[in-house]
Amino acid sequence: MIDFAHIDRAAVHDNDDLFYLLTSASFIETGSDTYTRNLVEHFDRYPQIADWLEHHWEPEELQHGRALKTYVQTVWPEFDWETAYSAFFDAYSRLCTVEELEEDRALELVARCVVETGTATYYQTVRDLAPEPVLADLAERIRMDEVRHYKNFYRNFKQLDAERGLSRTRVVGALIRRLDELRTSDADIALRHIWAFRHFPHGSDDMPFEQVSQRLYRHVGLRLPVDQAVKMLLKPLHLPHRMERLIERPLARIARHAIAA
Ligand SMILES: [Fe+2]
Ligand SMILES: [Fe+2]
Repeated sequence: MIDFAHIDRAAVHDNDDLFYLLTSASFIETGSDTYTRNLVEHFDRYPQIADWLEHHWEPEELQHGRALKTYVQTVWPEFDWETAYSAFFDAYSRLCTVEELEEDRALELVARCVVETGTATYYQTVRDLAPEPVLADLAERIRMDEVRHYKNFYRNFKQLDAERGLSRTRVVGALIRRLDELRTSDADIALRHIWAFRHFPHGSDDMPFEQVSQRLYRHVGLRLPVDQAVKMLLKPLHLPHRMERLIERPLARIARHAIAA
């Protein structure tokens, strides 16, 4: 169990970056059941995957949402979570449609690997930034779940890929499409709503949204465990070992530049 009663509120409260990181994560995780419906339907020809999505993946993502919400409400009670969330959800649910998914089921599994790489990386960063132990514990537990999700999607992808032999070009295409969306969609909508509903008691940190999000991307981007993320992202390509080792570093360098730009 997470020890919410012993959060050191004073240690986190004035950390704006953590406020935005944790609140947007709580929004996206809480909204994940809309997404699951679509995914479960999308995989109806693969009952084993659909079953796991419905009975393991979805309850775990929702649990992440609840835990993060509790944390945010405990540390920042002045933020009206419910009102901000419902405004966010209104915009977000319009984006979550089946058309957003990869038509090819194996490629959608690749896309899911990208998403889980993103979340695992995100919570690792939150854990490392955590100024107090309850948050570090919460972030580490969620991170472990996300790594397990990644492994499950990857295992299923490997199975489908073994049957079908997808071309690397198509896998790269799916990777790039999803990576591109990561930065522009979910997180951005969440941040915009949190920013809009944020209450500024001092008026001094009333920064324009673009400035807030840029600072956040830069600050957090510099701390992301990019090398590990690159390793996870390359796995579905089944590259020869030597080639993988050869391109990992330059790719991580490019990724770091792109995030902090
Ligand atoms: Fe999650
Ligand atoms: Fe996940």
